[in-house]
Amino acid sequence: MIKKGIILAGGTGSRLSPITKSINKQLLPLYDKPMIFYSLSVLMLAKIKDVLLITNRDDLKLYKELFGSGKDIGLKISYAIQEKPSGIPDAFIIGKKFINNQNIALILGDNFFYGQGFTKKLQDEKKLKSGAKIFLYKVKNPEDYGTAEIKNNKIKNIIEKSKKNISSYAITGLYFFDNNVIKYVTKLKPSKRKELEIVDLLKIYNKKNKLYFSLMGRGSAWLDTGSPENLLSTSEFISTIENRQGLKIGCIEEIGLINKWINKKNIIKRINFYGNSMYSNYLKKLINHG
Ligand code: DAU
Repeated sequence: MIKKGIILAGGTGSRLSPITKSINKQLLPLYDKPMIFYSLSVLMLAKIKDVLLITNRDDLKLYKELFGSGKDIGLKISYAIQEKPSGIPDAFIIGKKFINNQNIALILGDNFFYGQGFTKKLQDEKKLKSGAKIFLYKVKNPEDYGTAEIKNNKIKNIIEKSKKNISSYAITGLYFFDNNVIKYVTKLKPSKRKELEIVDLLKIYNKKNKLYFSLMGRGSAWLDTGSPENLLSTSEFISTIENRQGLKIGCIEEIGLINKWINKKNIIKRINFYGNSMYSNYLKKLINHG
């Protein structure tokens, strides 16, 4: 069972420069809310309440201002600093104390997930007792991601941003690990680009036949936020669905309320914090109708 989650929200965001020259990538807007709301909401949908947010030293203050202790959204948020972007698995070195003797979920702060049945999938998969679990999504441009080659329903090969097209299944930025991750991460060596690689960590699990996968079907969306075009198209996707339904995607207060972690009072505090905005109007509607 997974009860704790880490959000990795550091990095340089260099591919989005100059937008990210003075703003942390995960604070950029995806339509009507900061990008990080979407990854945080994934952990919340998985009913994970205990969250460690890792970011750059200079950006920490901004996240603390945005979420505080997490109490008013029903979470317990702790914070940690990554001094330099030395790779995704670094999250488990930084988060060692937080993880303690537990299993752990990791989500990259720039990932966007959406789809019918996704919440159920999360809640099923978080029952993970041992090993590691990755979530795969078929894409047209696998060379931009880590990919997993599947044969006879097993993971045959994992590779990071390969020009040789071994598989069209991208490894999304959501990972569940058992507590061995703390031990395995110490075995990793920096790659050519001087980073610890998440695929190397996954390979350790795969060698032990302990790497499992869950396929996200074509009725779901895992969208990119890595280029200006993707930022825009993901925002448009969110705007299209939200404006059609009148429901919000990644509204952390709404999920807190649905999970019964918070009440009307907490929502009112968040409304006062956000001030007069469309987002606040949505929160007002939630408590007036609920
Ligand atoms: O999004 C899924 C992909 O994420 C996977 O398919 C790849 O296997 C994985 O390596 C990663 O690829 P990216 O090229 O997207 O990684 P990037 O370096 O852009 O970092 C992803 C996020 O993690 C980004 O929001 C910044 C954060 N990050 C990254 C590194 C390397 C950190 O906070 N610290 C880091 O040291």
